[in-house]
Amino acid sequence: MFAVYAESISSDDPLTGLVVGERPDPTVPDGWTTVTVKAASLNHHDLWSLRGVGLEDEALPMILGCDAAGVDEDGNEVVVHAVVSDPSWSGDETLDPRRSLLSERHQGTFADKVTVPCRNVVPKPDSLTFEEAACLPTAWLTAYRMLYTQGGLKAGDTVLVQGAGGGVATALITLARAGGLRVLATSRDEAKRAKALELGAHEVFESGARLPVKVDAVMETVGRATWSHSIRALRPGGSIVISGTTSGPKVDDAELTRIFFLQLRVIGSTMGTRAELAGLMTMLDATGARPLIDRTLPMEQAADGFAAMAAGELFGKVVLTR
Ligand SMILES: NC(=O)c1ccc[n+]([C@@H]2O[C@H](COP(=O)([O-])OP(=O)(O)OC[C@H]3O[C@@H](n4cnc5c(N)ncnc54)[C@H](OP(=O)(O)O)[C@@H]3O)[C@@H](O)[C@H]2O)c1
Repeated sequence: MFAVYAESISSDDPLTGLVVGERPDPTVPDGWTTVTVKAASLNHHDLWSLRGVGLEDEALPMILGCDAAGVDEDGNEVVVHAVVSDPSWSGDETLDPRRSLLSERHQGTFADKVTVPCRNVVPKPDSLTFEEAACLPTAWLTAYRMLYTQGGLKAGDTVLVQGAGGGVATALITLARAGGLRVLATSRDEAKRAKALELGAHEVFESGARLPVKVDAVMETVGRATWSHSIRALRPGGSIVISGTTSGPKVDDAELTRIFFLQLRVIGSTMGTRAELAGLMTMLDATGARPLIDRTLPMEQAADGFAAMAAGELFGKVVLTR
């Protein structure tokens, strides 16, 4: 079948290991099912995989992609939940120490077909297109859990979103606005700041700029480049919810004094549960909010999408269609 896969790993030049070609059809273990992919979306995770983060040499060749929407074996329109937990695990699957994401141990979604545990298939609401639904399982689910589960935010709270252009960040802005929060956002780029306002941010700032108010929570995916600013943006007792470190995980100043003295909470967040994915879809259905898609490409042109993500040129999601 057609597939976009990692053939080799390079931390310095990740795109050299990317192949657009053919892979064998998947075999289907007991309790698993096959989804015919209609649309998939790109995440920074796919670039990390090509750099060897979360993907071992022994697992190559590996079809990339965590996210997909498509049609199940009975012809139902479905969304694929990307977190694969151990069959013996019950409860919050993000807490299963043996969990993996599609494309880490099991073949990913950038292909004609993807095989997943039956419990990883979630009905797609008719109100969402395949392209919109394909944006949800990683970036949008992560944003939903950061705001409303780990962050515990509610209507009327003020939130700062760092690095406005990212897939997770655009989801955070949209979902925070749809949930009745006051939304501040930063970006290094003036054009992206203007787009963040259009998307629903109430105020936008250059990365690192002094803010007019202290916020209840910061949503952090940038890491090293924004960490200190994030800590300094919080009101006493506020929370920083972190799910990514695009600019690197090693910070020059962890701001430990500020963290204890202002009694700040530092909360990790990763992906989300099947139930949260269903909740996210209900929220989109109910509010009319929709994923922002930067560009839609035929899957054959996946390399162009990877290159745009590596260059940081995106505002929203890259969707790959079959
Ligand atoms: N834990 C999880 O479950 C989970 C799930 C999804 C994603 N993630 C992680 O979250 C991060 C974001 O993912 P994504 O798919 O949204 O990636 P992305 O679309 O590539 O977004 C990254 C954003 O980070 C900002 N940025 C990058 N380098 C920066 C720098 N040096 N200084 C300031 N800002 C910088 C940019 O914002 P501006 O250009 O607007 O400044 C950029 O748009 C990734 O590290 C990813 O691995 C984690």
